[in-house]
Amino acid sequence: MVKTLNIAHRGFSGMYPENTMQAFRKAVETGADGIETDLHITKDGAIVLCHDETIDRTTDGTGFIKDYTCRELMKFNAGHGERIPSLDELLDYMKDKNLLLNLELKNDIVHYKDLEKYTIDKIHQYGLEKNVIISSFNHYSMQKVKEYDSSIKTGLLYGLPIHKPGEYARRIGADALHPLFSLIMDKDIIGDIKENGILINTYTVNKESDMKKLIHLGVDGIITNYPNVLKKLI
Ligand code: G3P
Ligand code: MG
Repeated sequence: MVKTLNIAHRGFSGMYPENTMQAFRKAVETGADGIETDLHITKDGAIVLCHDETIDRTTDGTGFIKDYTCRELMKFNAGHGERIPSLDELLDYMKDKNLLLNLELKNDIVHYKDLEKYTIDKIHQYGLEKNVIISSFNHYSMQKVKEYDSSIKTGLLYGLPIHKPGEYARRIGADALHPLFSLIMDKDIIGDIKENGILINTYTVNKESDMKKLIHLGVDGIITNYPNVLKKLI
């Protein structure tokens, strides 16, 4: 049986401010196999890491990321005195570590033009193409990734049931499915996905009992806010 990868959701976000360098460093220190994070573009074209389209929930500021320059955004406190990191900062930190990096493009609400291209160019700049998987709830965007660079791995995020997800992923040329975990707690569904040669990285699994079930079902990766808990099980 393949080892299930331990992927820290927004970094070690269960204990540290999500999507900050502190949360990423703590995830690596706790022994996670990879990091998941969320990408947006600022007014001046920088890629930054934050979950929401606005900074209201996670910082002491308000407003949309797309309406701020990168320099303006860096002034806000994202928790524990941390700033919103740029993609460059994370890629620089990851470049000498042989870990998985799951870059989720947040382009299903705000349509950031050419986010795919800018992200892939950055991945090449840091030589991380073998370590990265790009994912999104916007599956058109995942096709764009493949059109721009077919060697970059893609994962299709979904939170509602899809009919024959394995067949679907293969048809649109994705490498992985990234389902909400409750949608795949079933041997037959996992079987369909595996038979189609598609990887499964499931989110967001925070309860030990769910982690155990998913490891037993043979998923390839578990995305969790608690990489410390998952670490003890695999
Ligand atoms: O990539 C897995 C997970 O992060 C997707 O949902 O909303 O937490 O970005 P969300
Ligand atoms: Mg995400």
